Amino acid sequence: MLKEIYCPQTFRVNKEYPIYLGRNILEQLVDKIKPFKPNKVFLVSDTNVSALYGSKVMGILSQNFETFMFTVPAGEGNKTFQQYISLCNKLISSGITKRSFIIIMGGGVVGNLAGFAASTIMRGIDFAHLPTTVMAQVDSTTGGKQAVNMPQGKNLLGLFNDPKFILIDTYFLHTLPQREFSCGFAECIKHALCQDEDFVNELFLKFNKEHRYSESDLLSIVERTIKLKIDLLKMDPKEINEGKILVYGHTIGHAVETLSHGKLNHGESISIGMIFAAKASVALGFADKSLILVHEKVLTKAGLPIRIPDYIQSDNIVTQLSYDKKLSPQIELILLRQIGEPQAHEGRIGYPFNKERVLELLLDQNTWDKELYLPH
Ligand SMILES: NC(=O)c1ccc[n+]([C@@H]2O[C@H](COP(=O)([O-])OP(=O)(O)OC[C@H]3O[C@@H](n4cnc5c(N)ncnc54)[C@H](O)[C@@H]3O)[C@@H](O)[C@H]2O)c1
Ligand SMILES: [Zn+2]
Repeated sequence: MLKEIYCPQTFRVNKEYPIYLGRNILEQLVDKIKPFKPNKVFLVSDTNVSALYGSKVMGILSQNFETFMFTVPAGEGNKTFQQYISLCNKLISSGITKRSFIIIMGGGVVGNLAGFAASTIMRGIDFAHLPTTVMAQVDSTTGGKQAVNMPQGKNLLGLFNDPKFILIDTYFLHTLPQREFSCGFAECIKHALCQDEDFVNELFLKFNKEHRYSESDLLSIVERTIKLKIDLLKMDPKEINEGKILVYGHTIGHAVETLSHGKLNHGESISIGMIFAAKASVALGFADKSLILVHEKVLTKAGLPIRIPDYIQSDNIVTQLSYDKKLSPQIELILLRQIGEPQAHEGRIGYPFNKERVLELLLDQNTWDKELYLPH
């Protein structure tokens, strides 16, 4: 069965694009592309995903359209300006035009990179996402953020531009490695912690070590997370107030991700970032300690790390924060009063910090850990 959810467009009031959600709905891709009457279709994927699904999807597309396929090397380390230029070169050399259509199949890395290419070639070619990781299904394809990383930090070069549609088939997830399930679930947990306490409990009950889930469990986790994200996008698509909840755990998370030099993936890094945000919420007196314990329980059950690795120094994290595009000159953290309730400061979501205070909080973390687990 195919469900349809509608996501608000980033720049146009009262305009939406569809998200099709279901299991084994891949065959419907052709019907969704046809209304755009493309002269050519370009399938862009990463090397891992194209090896698994490239010929199947090419088979479906090439029966109906003149189709070309290009791959970019898999992995966060390839979400670079160089790979973006190389992909643009290939697409332009093979005769892409304004009337062409790009299907981007894969995780958040190829989604963000090829989404940036599609948005900038000839000032924008129509494109759609075919997300194949939990991360891409629940998060990275909705919201219209396209970007590549720069040596100084994550997502420093990019823009907002929406796909024509997203087709989410949970069938793709049967080949997803366990670590990637954990990674994507970090974003589900983020929404649950900030917006929906019942969902925290539901996720806690469903998560299991082997990441074995029924079809209906997967569909329900994906659908519920997307709807929570859309609630925020509807209120505040440009992340000026309520929309900032989307970056819960991401301030410290992005810094840790960059400083791990590929050892931690995005979900693992924001897991660590969310624990820090919970600890900061407690340290500032907004929440009680149970907030940290709930974070730790649900993130651990999802198989995510909750401590900053020893090889990452607190002062390097603070230096790295200066490169985060959203933070200069003041560091802002999203904090919680309790599960489902972000802390507002002067009527707005997000709490301002100076670097010295963040460093202090980072250094205090070990003490808190000891205190938390002392018998009372
Ligand atoms: N734009 C946004 O709003 C937004 C939101 C969240 C995350 N992101 C970005 O998303 C990226 C992370 O995305 P990701 O976690 O999907 O990583 P990813 O794209 O690197 O995919 C993870 C790994 O899984 C492989 N893979 C993908 N689908 C598979 C499948 N079905 N079976 C087997 N292997 C498969 C990939 O080849 C890759 O090796 C980060 O760059 C992050 O910044 C962006
Ligand atoms: Zn994220």
